[in-house]
Amino acid sequence: MRLILLGAPGAGKGTQAAFITERFGIPQISTGDMLRAAVKAGTPLGQQAQKIMEAGALVPDDIMLGVVRERLSAPDCAKGFLLDGFPRTIAQAEGLAKAGIGIDVVLEFDVPDADIIQRLSGRRVHPASGRTYHLTFNPPKTPGLDDLTGEPLVQRADDQEETVRKRLEVYHAQTLPLVKFYAERQGQPGAPRLVTISGVGPVAEVQQRIFDALQA
Ligand code: AP5
Ligand code: ZN
Repeated sequence: MRLILLGAPGAGKGTQAAFITERFGIPQISTGDMLRAAVKAGTPLGQQAQKIMEAGALVPDDIMLGVVRERLSAPDCAKGFLLDGFPRTIAQAEGLAKAGIGIDVVLEFDVPDADIIQRLSGRRVHPASGRTYHLTFNPPKTPGLDDLTGEPLVQRADDQEETVRKRLEVYHAQTLPLVKFYAERQGQPGAPRLVTISGVGPVAEVQQRIFDALQA
């Protein structure tokens, strides 16, 4: 299964990716997680990405395409993969296709903007694994600590309300056009199937909708 998760910031891509990758035995390739790891490690990519991410803008397409192409050439991607947060511009989608990287399904999460701010302001993450919690909607077993490692949870630098609004703007302007891009290609040879699910409701219900749509 070669899958793309498409959805606004806070739509639940990372949360649901954990269930999907477990079910299908495929790696999760989160460009956001990869960039945050690069920032933390202080690599040249991280140094370039840090300010862009904190401003809620997008890292340039050619850089992201290079990062993703390299990751997809690793042996663990041979039997499939889940792309979380990529592509997020038309140029990135075209770059994937030009590189001959086929996709089976594009799964779009539909969540109203009104829910997004609430979700992101209550989000807490375990930086080492990318595991994600919410103070109200998906709390850890022990407040402030990761369920599996017991390590502290933190708030993401780009989850300030002002940055979230900017990220939403960028999503509408640059990423949402991808839905039309894939819709127009439905039925063409080699084009992925576009599936839209509602991302509203309890995490387990959203998971069931996804598994039904993927017939998993
Ligand atoms: P990235 O890390 O990809 O962030 P994003 O797309 O903004 O998405 P999020 O990670 O914020 O949300 P999510 O959909 O994963 O939601 P989650 O499951 O955590 O990118 C960050 C930045 O990196 C970008 O802004 C950009 O600068 C750069 N970047 C990354 N990729 C790039 C690319 N391809 N090109 C250029 N730049 C790139 O859930 C959110 C919260 O809601 C959690 O607290 C969760 O517990 C809760 N929640 C989840 N599901 C539910 C539910 N059903 N009900 C209630 N709460 C829920
Ligand atoms: Zn995410």
